[in-house]
Amino acid sequence: MAEQKTAIVTGASRGIGHAVAQRFADLGWRVITVSRGPPPPKCPWNDDGNTHVQLDLSNLDEITKTVAALRPLLGGSKLHALVNNAGISPKGPGGERVNSLTTDLKVWQEMYNANFYAPLILTRGFAQELSNAQGSVVNLCSIAAYRVHPFAGAAYATSKAALAALTREMAADMAPMGVRVNAIAPGEINTTILSPGTSKIVDNNIPMRRLGEVSEIADLIEFLCSEKSSYITGAEIAIDGGQRV
Ligand SMILES: NC(=O)c1ccc[n+]([C@@H]2O[C@H](COP(=O)([O-])OP(=O)(O)OC[C@H]3O[C@@H](n4cnc5c(N)ncnc54)[C@H](OP(=O)(O)O)[C@@H]3O)[C@@H](O)[C@H]2O)c1
Repeated sequence: MAEQKTAIVTGASRGIGHAVAQRFADLGWRVITVSRGPPPPKCPWNDDGNTHVQLDLSNLDEITKTVAALRPLLGGSKLHALVNNAGISPKGPGGERVNSLTTDLKVWQEMYNANFYAPLILTRGFAQELSNAQGSVVNLCSIAAYRVHPFAGAAYATSKAALAALTREMAADMAPMGVRVNAIAPGEINTTILSPGTSKIVDNNIPMRRLGEVSEIADLIEFLCSEKSSYITGAEIAIDGGQRV
C-alpha cells in the first residue's frame, strides 16, 4: 500500500486554508491544522480527533510553542507539505486601508508575528520532517506586497513582502535538504478577508473581471506540493486574474 502523505495547513478553519485542507484530504493525505478557534465540525480531516491545535499565531510566545504542540500530532511521520496560510489583515472601521503613519506598533508586531514569524518558525521547526519526505513549503503572500492597495494596510503589505523574501532565502537554504519552498501571491480571492468595496477593484483593476475562487488556490497549492512542480523552488506565483498587469 502507498504511504499516506501528511500536510500541515495553518488557518484551515475557513477561506483558502479550509479549501486547501479539504483538497489534501480528498487526495487521501492526513491533514494537521492550527488556528485560534476549534476545528470546524464535520471536516473529514478531523475524524481521528488528534489533528488540530488551537494557538494564536499573532502572539510570539504562542508561535514558539507551535512546533512542540504540533510534533506529537505528526507521531514521527514525515511531513510532505507545510502550507503557511494563516494571515491577518486589519482594516479601518469602514474596511479601509490602515496606513504606515497611524497604525499602532502593537498591530505591526501582531501582523509580523502571524504573517512572517509564524512561517519562519514553523518551516525551520519542521525542516527535518520536511527533508525526510523531500517535501514542499508554500507561503501565502499577496499582491499587496507589490503596490499600495486600497484596503490592505501598510503593515500587512510589508509583512507579505518580507515573507516573499523569506521564501527566496529559505528556498536556497533548504534545497540541499531536498525541500522546495515556494510562495503564491493571490489578488482578490472570494473569502471573508475581503473588504466591502472589492467589487470596484473587480470592475476597474482585474482584467478577468471576477474574484478568484478558493478552489483555484487549492489547485495551485496542490501543484506546488506535487511531483509535477519538482524543479520549482524559490518561486512566487501570482494568481490574480491579471490584476498585477
Ligand atoms: N482572500 C484574499 O483575497 C487573499 C489575497 C492575498 C493573500 N491572501 C492570504 O491568504 C491567506 C488566507 O486568507 P483567507 O482569505 O483565507 O483568510 P480568512 O478567510 O480570514 O481565514 C484566515 C484563517 O487564518 C486563521 N487565523 C487568522 N488569524 C490567526 C491567528 N492569529 N492565529 C492562528 N490562526 C489564525 C483563521 O482561523 P481563526 O480565526 O480560527 O484563528 C482562518 O482559518 C492569508 O495569509 C491572506 O493574507 C488572501
